[in-house]
Amino acid sequence: MLEKILKMIRKMLVIWVMMLLWWPTTSSNVKPGCQEKCGDVSVPFPFGIDNLNCAKDESFLLTCNRSKTPATLMFGENIATLNISVEEGIVVASIDSAMRCYNESGLRQETVFDQSITLGNGPFRFSDTRNKLTAFGCDTLALMTDRNEGFWSACGSFCSGNQSDSMDITGDSCSGIGCCQTPLPKSLNSLNITLVSITNYTQVPKFNPCDYAFLADESFNISEFQQSLDLEPDKVMNSKIAIEWVAKEENCEAGKNSSDYACGRDARCDYSKNVRGYRCLCKKGFRGNPYLPEGCEDVNECEEPENYPCEGTCKNTLGNYTCSCPLGMRGDGKVGCQGYRILTIAAGNILLQSFVQLIN
Ligand SMILES: *[C@@H]1O[C@H](CO)[C@@H](O)[C@H](O)[C@H]1NC(C)=O
Ligand SMILES: *[C@@H]1O[C@H](CO)[C@@H](O)[C@H](O)[C@H]1NC(C)=O
Ligand SMILES: *[C@@H]1O[C@H](CO)[C@@H](O)[C@H](O)[C@H]1NC(C)=O
Ligand SMILES: *[C@@H]1O[C@H](CO)[C@@H](O)[C@H](O)[C@H]1NC(C)=O
Ligand SMILES: *[C@@H]1O[C@H](CO)[C@@H](O)[C@H](O)[C@H]1NC(C)=O
Ligand SMILES: *[C@@H]1O[C@H](CO)[C@@H](O)[C@H](O)[C@H]1NC(C)=O
Ligand SMILES: *[C@@H]1O[C@H](CO)[C@@H](O)[C@H](O)[C@H]1NC(C)=O
Ligand SMILES: *[C@@H]1O[C@H](CO)[C@@H](O)[C@H](O)[C@H]1NC(C)=O
Ligand SMILES: *[C@@H]1O[C@H](CO)[C@@H](O)[C@H](O)[C@H]1NC(C)=O
Repeated sequence: MLEKILKMIRKMLVIWVMMLLWWPTTSSNVKPGCQEKCGDVSVPFPFGIDNLNCAKDESFLLTCNRSKTPATLMFGENIATLNISVEEGIVVASIDSAMRCYNESGLRQETVFDQSITLGNGPFRFSDTRNKLTAFGCDTLALMTDRNEGFWSACGSFCSGNQSDSMDITGDSCSGIGCCQTPLPKSLNSLNITLVSITNYTQVPKFNPCDYAFLADESFNISEFQQSLDLEPDKVMNSKIAIEWVAKEENCEAGKNSSDYACGRDARCDYSKNVRGYRCLCKKGFRGNPYLPEGCEDVNECEEPENYPCEGTCKNTLGNYTCSCPLGMRGDGKVGCQGYRILTIAAGNILLQSFVQLIN
């Protein structure tokens, strides 16, 4: 009996050791000992979850709220993070829309919600190229301001004709009829959105008792938005926004000079004009997370002939690859080899014989 158990343990040990040996060495996207994911969302360094040691500094520290289902990665208090891109320097997030619903007697106070979001003091800005202030409704003025009232902007959305008719939104556009959009100013990191009625809620359309205003990135699709409202008229809606980020708000020269330079080995510094500051990218021929000290790893070009053509003998080098033409041919193997290949080298017996016959 004991022997049987021992045998089993030995077997399991062998399997375990084999697994250790064969386990693919995947390059990590986080600091050692840190969590890679919150729910479905990957959290690459310089971002970190819950533990300050896992993030570059406190502005990149996000919280994972595991009481929500699914677990939700929170950026500040009321911004849910959906995707973090290191290469593009973008965080895609979701926020609730500002809204107001009304009935025949006017505004329903319990449905009034004004949105206020802030990206904090870190190197984060609402993308002015990807986001637009968007409003949806028939008698709506959407007002947008930053927290310190540094600027004001608005867009108005109205419906024409008989207010009992169904809303007629032409095509996919938000051109002021039932829907409007207006661009954001540059370098915004906080935003208050509120809705007002032009007619003091006296022109209540029967088909659409709620108005909405929100920031939305280019993925916003008005027909999908309307379809979702048709199914559930009083719904709390949310939208996707794009947040741009850099490692630090200084230029590359100052960054390289400072003790907390963010870019690791084999990474290069890239100055971003949109959010004034620098970000890191792996050098050509390397791939991985440029913010980790040794995150950029050499690409083995020979394993990816579809991206890195080679007609001859491929050899990987650090940051590049060489390709020499087969024996008897000349030229640059990456572009194409000229001349006649001596078939016998790689071919089998039959070809060898025919080659020998050819010579004879
Ligand atoms: C997590 O989410 C729950 C449910 O939405 C909420 O009640 C709670 O306050 C959140 N916790 C934190 C730390 O934000
Ligand atoms: C996150 O963004 C990247 C690049 O933009 C994309 O390839 C990936 O599919 C996205 N992931 C999710 C969960 O949306
Ligand atoms: C309109 O909504 C208010 C607040 O929800 C409610 O008190 C009132 O009865 C509603 N009026 C009608 C005509 O439904
Ligand atoms: C924006 O909203 C926040 C939170 O509701 C509020 O404290 C602040 O005063 C508002 N700022 C402006 C300019 O309306
Ligand atoms: C709007 O349409 C309704 C029924 O479709 C009709 O009773 C009403 O008179 C119309 N109002 C105007 C201003 O045309
Ligand atoms: C808007 O309507 C409400 C009642 O529906 C009224 O009390 C209020 O004075 C009106 N406001 C304006 C600016 O007309
Ligand atoms: C918006 O969504 C509808 C329905 O899903 C689709 O047919 C349409 O092509 C989309 N429009 C754009 C601009 O993506
Ligand atoms: C780099 O640091 C040195 C010494 O700390 C300083 O003299 C120099 O001005 C710095 N250069 C830049 C571009 O900040
Ligand atoms: C790789 O080597 C070729 C010459 O063989 C050179 O033209 C190319 O710039 C190199 N690429 C990198 C990323 O160094």
